[in-house]
Amino acid sequence: MKQGLLIFFLFILMNAHSQQINIVPKPAAASIQKGSFNISPSTKIILEGSGLEKTAAFFNAYLKKFYDFELNIASSNTAKKNVIVLNFERMDHTIPGAYSMTIDQDKAYIAGDNEQGVFYGIQSLIQLLPFEKNKSLSVPQLSITDSARFAYRGMHLDVGRHFFDADFVKQYLDLMAMYKFNTFHWHLTEDQGWRIEIKKYPNLTKVGAYRNGTIIGRHPGTGNDSTRSGGFYTQAQIKEIVQYAADRYITVIPEIEMPGHSMAALTSYPELGCTGGPYKVRESWGVCDDVFCAGNEQTFQFLENVLDEVIALFPSKYIHIGGDESPKTRWKLCPKCQQRIKDNNLKDEHALQSYFIQRIEKYLNSKCRQIIGWDEILEGGLAPNATVMSWRGEQGGIDAAKQKHNVIMTPGNYCYFDHSQTKKEDSLVIGGYLPIETVYSYDPVPKQLNAVEAKYVLGAQANVWTEYMAYPSKVEYMLLPRLSAMSEVLWTAKNNKDWKEFQPRLLNEFKRYDWMHLSYSKSYLSDPVTAK
Ligand code: ACM
Ligand code: ZN
Repeated sequence: MKQGLLIFFLFILMNAHSQQINIVPKPAAASIQKGSFNISPSTKIILEGSGLEKTAAFFNAYLKKFYDFELNIASSNTAKKNVIVLNFERMDHTIPGAYSMTIDQDKAYIAGDNEQGVFYGIQSLIQLLPFEKNKSLSVPQLSITDSARFAYRGMHLDVGRHFFDADFVKQYLDLMAMYKFNTFHWHLTEDQGWRIEIKKYPNLTKVGAYRNGTIIGRHPGTGNDSTRSGGFYTQAQIKEIVQYAADRYITVIPEIEMPGHSMAALTSYPELGCTGGPYKVRESWGVCDDVFCAGNEQTFQFLENVLDEVIALFPSKYIHIGGDESPKTRWKLCPKCQQRIKDNNLKDEHALQSYFIQRIEKYLNSKCRQIIGWDEILEGGLAPNATVMSWRGEQGGIDAAKQKHNVIMTPGNYCYFDHSQTKKEDSLVIGGYLPIETVYSYDPVPKQLNAVEAKYVLGAQANVWTEYMAYPSKVEYMLLPRLSAMSEVLWTAKNNKDWKEFQPRLLNEFKRYDWMHLSYSKSYLSDPVTAK
C-alpha cells in the first residue's frame, strides 16, 4: 500500500515536471494547471476592445493555414463559454506589448496593455497548439503575465549579397513575429546588388540590381559561376511588406549603405565615385576600396534624393545609413575629397567620414528621422544624435553609451548568424562558430556600463549576412533554432533565463519546425557545446 502511494506521488512529480509550458521566449511569470481547453470550429472569438480585428484575423489565418478551420467573431455579450476573449488591461510595464493570458476549461482570456500586447498573447496561444492537424485543439489551462526586457528586439537580413523575394521576406517576418521580435533591419544596398526601386534613379535597379556572376566557394573563390543573378523590390512591394510587418507589430528599418558597400550604386552612376569608374557590380565578397566620393556635391544630392524616397516608404523613426567598412584609400588620392578636408579644416579621412555621416544625419534630422550607423561611425567623432550599432564586439556600444548615445548591440561573437552552428562546418559559411548555447548566454548590457549608462542600450539584434546563403532554406537553416535563443535574450528577464530550463522547450521548437516544414540545424543534439 505504502509503495503504491510512493509510486503515485512519484508519478505526480514526474508529471508536474513534464508539464513544461512550451512558449518561447519564456514568459515573465507562468503557472500551469491541470486540465485543458479545446479550440474547435464552434469556438468563438470575442473582441472586447477596438482595433483587435487585425489580431483576430491573424489568428484565424494561422488556424486556416495549419488546421483548416476558422473561428467566428462574436459580439461581447455572448455567453463566455467556448470562447477566446481579447481585451485590454492596464499593465504596469514601460515597454509596450505586455499581456496576460488565462486559460481555463471554458475560455482563453487574453488581455494586452495595447494592441501589440494582445498580438503577443495570441502568439503565445499559437505556440501552445498541438502539432497535429485536427479539428479539436487542446491547450493546457494556465495563467501567464508577460512583458519584454528590451524595447528593441531586432533581426537583420542582408538581401544585397543574395536577393530574396517578397514572399520570403514575409515568411521571415512571420518567424520574427512568432518569437515577439519587433524590429526588422532590412539591409537593402550592397556592393553586390541594389535592391530598392528609386524612381529618380532608374539605373540603380536597371543596372545595380544585377551581377553577371558570383564566385564559387569561399572568398576569394575557386572560379566564377558566370550566371547573371539579382532582383529588387518595387516601391509597391516595399509598401506591402512594410504594412505586412506593421500588422505583426514589427517596424522595418531600411539600411542604405554609405559611404562604403556602394559598388552597385557606383556602377549605376559612376560619377559618384572618386575615380569616375568604370565600375562593376561586385561578384565576390569582402571589403571594396571604391566608395562614394565625399568631396563631390553630387554625392550628397544623390543620397538626399534617394533618402527622400526611402523616407516616403518607411515610417520608421530610424534610418540605417551603414557607415561600416569604408576604406579611405580613394579619398586619400582624390583631389575633391582632399579639397573638402582642407575647406572644412578636417584632421584626416576619418574626420571626413564623420563629416559625411554628420551631413546626412543633419538632413535626416530635418525630416524628423534619426540615424543608426555601424560602430565605425564613432571614428572621427559621432554625429550628435546617432544611434550606434555595435558589431565589432561590444566596445563600440560601450563607448557610445558612455557618450550618452543610444546603442543596439550586435557583437559578432554572439549575434552573427552567418557563423557556423557546428564546430566542424556542416556547410559553406563565412567562418566563425556560434552554437545556440552561446547565443542564449548573451546579455546585451555589457558589464562595463553602470546603471545610468545601461539605459542607453535599447536592445540587440542578430544579423543574417547572406554571402553564403544563396537560397531561402539556407537562410532558414542558419536562422533556426538560433532565432529562438535570441528571442529569449531580448524578451526574457535576465534572472528568469536559464539554459538548462530552455533545452526541453528547444526540443519542442524542433517539433514546431518539423510541423511547419522549416529547415533548421539539429547541431544542438549532435554537437553539444558541453563536449567542447
Ligand atoms: C558588418 O558586419 N560589416 C556590419
Ligand atoms: Zn573623392
